[in-house]
Amino acid sequence: MNSYLFVCLGNICRSPTAKAMFDYKFQQAGIEVFTDSAGTLGYHVGKAPDARAIRHAMDWGMDIRDQRARQVTVADFRRFDRIFAMDQSNLDELARMMPPNATARVELVMSLAPDYGLHEVPDPYYGGDQGFQQVLDMLEAAASRLIEELANPR
Ligand code: 4NP
Repeated sequence: MNSYLFVCLGNICRSPTAKAMFDYKFQQAGIEVFTDSAGTLGYHVGKAPDARAIRHAMDWGMDIRDQRARQVTVADFRRFDRIFAMDQSNLDELARMMPPNATARVELVMSLAPDYGLHEVPDPYYGGDQGFQQVLDMLEAAASRLIEELANPR
């Protein structure tokens, strides 16, 4: 089974939403995957997702209330096939902590959907509803492309 880890800064907005969206799209496609999410920052460890992220995910019928924030660990680099960073600073932090024996492929989540036109999933934490909606829209595009990629390997 393929395994994917989604990484943002706080693990309370973008990456819990990413986990839920990829779970949702893969379930719709009838493909079993193992997913998780984590943050590069330890500040929110143990917390449920941001109330706004919960509400916007719920608009899609996705219940993310049970997710709890955790920090990325070096073990994640062997446990997961692929690690998807939401933005460049998350990717830089992952590169910095990557152990020499890492087996995971680490990249920006939007590298899955290069034609979307945005390389980074913007941090919605200090913004409004539109930011959270954009996160969902971008992640849906990325998840769809990964499913296509698995169905038609190059
Ligand atoms: P996330 O959003 O990385 O999408 O979970 C953030 C959540 C919290 C903070 C920053 C970004 N923070 O600085 O506390």
